[in-house]
Amino acid sequence: MAKRVLVLNGPNLNMLGTREPATYGSQTLADIESLCKAEAGKLTLTVEFKQSNHEGELVTWIQQALGAFEAIVINPGAYSHTSIAIHDALRAVALPVIEVHLSNIYTRESFRHHSYVSPVATGVICGLGAAGYRLALHALAEKL
Ligand code: DQA
Repeated sequence: MAKRVLVLNGPNLNMLGTREPATYGSQTLADIESLCKAEAGKLTLTVEFKQSNHEGELVTWIQQALGAFEAIVINPGAYSHTSIAIHDALRAVALPVIEVHLSNIYTRESFRHHSYVSPVATGVICGLGAAGYRLALHALAEKL
């Protein structure tokens, strides 16, 4: 049976395409959703793809993933660097998690060098642009 993967995107990622294209690329979030769905089809995964600008909504979606999904891919956006609530939610559900960042957060401002999500992630992919989402699905397909 196809394994179900929840792909979550945090604040400002709805602005991809127009938001700082030199840093985040020219693909829109809808483009990345299509890429994920196409890749999932090849890997016998199903993907539900969501975005929110609200920390609490992301926390609720993570909690609801228990029993509904086998794994999570998350680009928490700026909440990576601030959110103990997202850290706690991921720890609570204890599903395999791949953290994705489009940009290489370690070559950017120092406030982006720490992620509260990384300690509760199975793996972290950053700096590879939209391909990071595709690679995250491959990693989960191997793991699940
Ligand atoms: C990001 C990196 C974060 O530092 C930033 O706040 C984002 C996007 C990335 O995908 O590179 O919103 O998560």
